[in-house]
Amino acid sequence: MKVPSNAPWSSQELDSFFYQPADSFFRGNSGLSLTYDDVTLATLYSEIIPKDANFETRLGPGLYLHLPIVSADMDTVTESRMAIALALNGGLGLIHYNMPPRQQLSEVSRVKNHIHGLIREPIKVHPEQCIGDVLGLIEEKKFSFSTFPVVDKDDTLLGLLPGHCVRPRFAHRGVGEAMIKRDGVLTIRESELGDDPIQRADRFFTEHIGIHKLLVVDAEDHLKGLFTLSDIERISQERLLQTKPARDSKFRLLCGAAVSAPRKADGSIDKDQLLGHVEALVERGLDAVAVSTAHGHTLGVGEAVKAIRHALPDLTIIAGNVTSAAGVEFLAKSGANTVKIGQGPGSICTTRVVAGVGIPQLTALYVCSQAARDHGVTILADGGITKSGDVVKALTLADAVVCGSLLAGCPEAPGQILEINGKFYKQYRGMGSHAAMKAGSAARYGHAREISQKSAAEGVEALKEVSAPADTVLAQLAGGLQSGMGYLGAGNLSELRSNARYTRITPAGLRESAPHDIIEVKTGG
Ligand code: XMP
Repeated sequence: MKVPSNAPWSSQELDSFFYQPADSFFRGNSGLSLTYDDVTLATLYSEIIPKDANFETRLGPGLYLHLPIVSADMDTVTESRMAIALALNGGLGLIHYNMPPRQQLSEVSRVKNHIHGLIREPIKVHPEQCIGDVLGLIEEKKFSFSTFPVVDKDDTLLGLLPGHCVRPRFAHRGVGEAMIKRDGVLTIRESELGDDPIQRADRFFTEHIGIHKLLVVDAEDHLKGLFTLSDIERISQERLLQTKPARDSKFRLLCGAAVSAPRKADGSIDKDQLLGHVEALVERGLDAVAVSTAHGHTLGVGEAVKAIRHALPDLTIIAGNVTSAAGVEFLAKSGANTVKIGQGPGSICTTRVVAGVGIPQLTALYVCSQAARDHGVTILADGGITKSGDVVKALTLADAVVCGSLLAGCPEAPGQILEINGKFYKQYRGMGSHAAMKAGSAARYGHAREISQKSAAEGVEALKEVSAPADTVLAQLAGGLQSGMGYLGAGNLSELRSNARYTRITPAGLRESAPHDIIEVKTGG
């Protein structure tokens, strides 16, 4: 960095000497790796009103998010409920793989079938069934609804079984005798839906007080789909709200899922098993697959990514994790679109303690962002995000962040709520903890399937205090991101990246950065 002359420094000279853009800042600190709390960002002249900041980000050729937040593929963070919450808020959930492949397929289906306006394949029942059968079906599939269209074996509409009849006291009664008969059921022809089916259905529900389901039929009265009032109301509200759900071209929520790189007995990658499963996920509508391991710069991960890229040229592939430029280049050349950056920053990670390996996250992001730009891929800042300020700092270098700990206490995260001394907690465990590896994630940490106490764990089992629902947590993160963008005069994420200027802080500076010398009576949320 050139030191300005002895003459009085201009404001510009002063600012650019003390607050440096990414290249001069990180290159000037080479040999010293920094993380979020080691730096702070300098403000800039701004005309940006925070609420107008635009979060759009592109992860792959066809994968755009309205909120640059991805939920971690961990068995105590992301299954369908969390993935739905993420996508409804504009982000992306990565369904973990510590479950049988068939279950992962159904988790993906749950996300893809969640509110997509017209439900093309509604669950149907038949007149010869008894209500006990229907109750069994609801129990088995964990349906949250109990009203069903009744059809014959050719899908011709015969009636509607109303939810108030689906009760244990009527278990032995027949569906045929309980249903509202066809001439009492209001329907709409597919051909009458027009260009804006949501608006048409919305109008129907306004015109028909008390009706909650609208069945769609063809000219021969075959059932072709179903609208529900609650879906339509939610979708109509979304159109008015600033939060835009992340959807695919068929208006379904976006969904990602993680896979490991499965091996055969001889140690080579089992491509048939891998591709069979990934293809099945794609058939369910999967938008992005994440080849998720602790060490992504390896032969096995490279082969797995290449095999998927070869078989599915258009699928967005996320791969990782790496923390070096060479690792990013390797995965980019193997066919990944997005690379996950992070080795050891996670709240439950012990990789740096156990293996002595890993790079503090902000320096890793800078190094990897340079390689990503050169090799045409995007990067995800994975792990170590503890507050919205970290999201802002991460997004000065990365295209989106991956959060585990911040979401693990939400009701949408898998797992039971535990009460300890009057406080409520949820389990949160590292995928490299013994318990998680026994449940299936051993390959992610380079272990064979049989885990023993001697296998070195790289994560801990922990608890998170139960937090607000994901909507609230995400809204707080988004609010912090908007503030950060406002302070940096950034109307969008690309401006955030180019406007960012950093300075290092000391432990005293860090202490000054958080509330201090007060008795806090209410936290900031
Ligand atoms: P946060 O900080 O959001 O981090 O809780 C979540 C990320 O941590 C990674 N992860 C692990 N890393 N051992 C590790 O070294 C583990 O057991 C482990 N489990 C998860 C992962 O990248 C996740 O997204």
